[in-house]
Amino acid sequence: MASTVPFVKLSNGLQIPIFGLGTWKSKPGEVEYAVKTAIDMGYRHIDGAYCYQNEKEVGTAIRNKIEDGTVKREDLFITSKLWNTFHDPKDVEKACRKTLSDLGLQYVDLYLIHWPFCYVENGELFPRDPSGEMIFADFDYVDTWKAMEKLVSLGLAKSIGVSNFNVEQIERILKSCSIKPVTNQVECHPYLAQIELGKWMAARGITLTAYSPLGSPDRPVQSPTDKVLLQDPVVLSIAQKYNKSAAQILLRYQLDRGFIVIPKSINKERLQQNMEIFDFNLIKEDLDKLNSLNSGFRYITMAGIGDKHKYHPFNAKF
Ligand code: A2P
Repeated sequence: MASTVPFVKLSNGLQIPIFGLGTWKSKPGEVEYAVKTAIDMGYRHIDGAYCYQNEKEVGTAIRNKIEDGTVKREDLFITSKLWNTFHDPKDVEKACRKTLSDLGLQYVDLYLIHWPFCYVENGELFPRDPSGEMIFADFDYVDTWKAMEKLVSLGLAKSIGVSNFNVEQIERILKSCSIKPVTNQVECHPYLAQIELGKWMAARGITLTAYSPLGSPDRPVQSPTDKVLLQDPVVLSIAQKYNKSAAQILLRYQLDRGFIVIPKSINKERLQQNMEIFDFNLIKEDLDKLNSLNSGFRYITMAGIGDKHKYHPFNAKF
């Protein structure tokens, strides 16, 4: 089946589908079905990461859909991310090759530095000392970036970018890079609209990829006082007006601002519903209403995991 998903041009001339499938929190045992079903429905962009601990299964699904003739490798846009324990420049190529071997692919379309801060490498994803504190490492992400650039010349990644970086951190990379990050993947939804960050990045030719666009209702760390985005009265009233679901409004909100969006689902009906966002637009008045919900509220704070590192990104204004 041909895909109807439009593309966004990256600063290196390559193209990324503006809509893709998120795989964070999709467990092994669920994610193979989700990726295969999504590709059958016309999804062409799959967002993953080493840290999600499911890349072998994601790869099985992708290779299955190539082998059965549904898609060719070049029809797909596959993203992965360098985990925080591999920021030592000499570990970057090895980490990327491990992801490629798990996926069973020759290259990824996009490889991102997952977070600006980093941990020691001791075999654990989240290394902690006996008192439970994270064991941080002290690599500068600018040096890690230089190792990321080599992945492009080696043909292991077509494009490279960052995730969860603030403006000052991107600026530091821009000052000394030979390849610009093509995207910064960040949490983004009406409560954290990322208006200034989006404008700042657009002015520098860097796309914004919105993760947790539905408010990540299955996030591992939650407080009972957290607001539920999918049940926000403003979102629900706009959904009623367009005869769409709250999720479809939240996804269209990103497309209408030119942001790339990667909702996660492992459910066939919701995967389908999330694709049905290319037959309408939100008018400015409704985009403004959604933007008025912006309070800088984050669902994903990395409290206790990254907030004590000097490169924790969320202390900055944007
Ligand atoms: P499920 O995987 O069972 O479909 P986010 O992308 O913001 O992290 O949100 C993912 C969460 O939202 C998952 O719990 C997912 O559940 C749920 N979800 C995905 N699509 C929809 C939808 N269309 N309506 C309601 N919930 C959805």
